[in-house]
Amino acid sequence: MRAMQISSDHPLLLRIVDDLAEHGWSQQDLFLPNALTAQLAAECRRRSAEGELAPAAVGRGPAQEIREGIRGDHIQWLEEGDSEPSDCYMQMMDSLREALNRGLFLGLEEFECHFALYPPGAFYRKHVDRFRDDDRRMVSVVLYLNDDWLAEQGGQLRMYLAGEREHDVLPSGGCLVVFLSGEVPHEVLPAQRDRLSLTGWFRRRGEGPF
Ligand code: OGA
Ligand code: MN
Repeated sequence: MRAMQISSDHPLLLRIVDDLAEHGWSQQDLFLPNALTAQLAAECRRRSAEGELAPAAVGRGPAQEIREGIRGDHIQWLEEGDSEPSDCYMQMMDSLREALNRGLFLGLEEFECHFALYPPGAFYRKHVDRFRDDDRRMVSVVLYLNDDWLAEQGGQLRMYLAGEREHDVLPSGGCLVVFLSGEVPHEVLPAQRDRLSLTGWFRRRGEGPF
C-alpha cells in the first residue's frame, strides 16, 4: 500500500481544488481504489466489533455532550501508525492539503480524522462543521466506506448550497466529499443499514480555547 502515493499535482486533487474555488464543495465518486476502500471498511468494522468506537459528542471542550437527538454516530479518532491502510489514506490527505494550500492559500497545517459508524436509524441533524468558539476547521472531507449502497436505504449526506439548492450524496464506497467547513450547512439522514465513513477536517494552526 505504501507505494500508492498521490502527488499534490495529481489531476484528481487539482479538480477538487478547482471545485472548492468555484463552488465551495466537491464530490469525487471514485476517489479511492476499491481495495483500499475495502481495507478501511474492514478496519472500521473491526474497531466497532472490538468496542473501540464511542458515541460522538456535540460541541467542544467543557461544553461537550452526547446528544443522540442531534447525532447518533459512533466514532474513533485516527492516529498515525494505526494501520497501513489508514496511514495510506492520511498520506493522500496530506497531498490534498498541499494542493489546497497551493491553489487556495488556506494555510492548512493539520488534518484530524475519525472513523464513524451510524447504526440503522442514526442521523446527524443539520449543522455547520466550524465551532462558534474555534474557527480552525477550514475544509471538511468525508470518505464513504459502504458497498453497494441503494438510494432507498437512505443515509444521504444532504448539503444546503447557495441559492437554496440542496444536494444529496449517497454514502457509496470510495466516494469523497470535500467542502468549506464554515460555509456549507449539511445533515446526515437516517439509514436502514450501518453507514461507515472516515470524516476529517483540515485545520489552520492557531490558539484554540481548549
Ligand atoms: C460530520 C458530518 C457527514 C457524513 O461528521 O460532521 O457531517 O456524511 N458527517 O458522514
Ligand atoms: Mn458535519
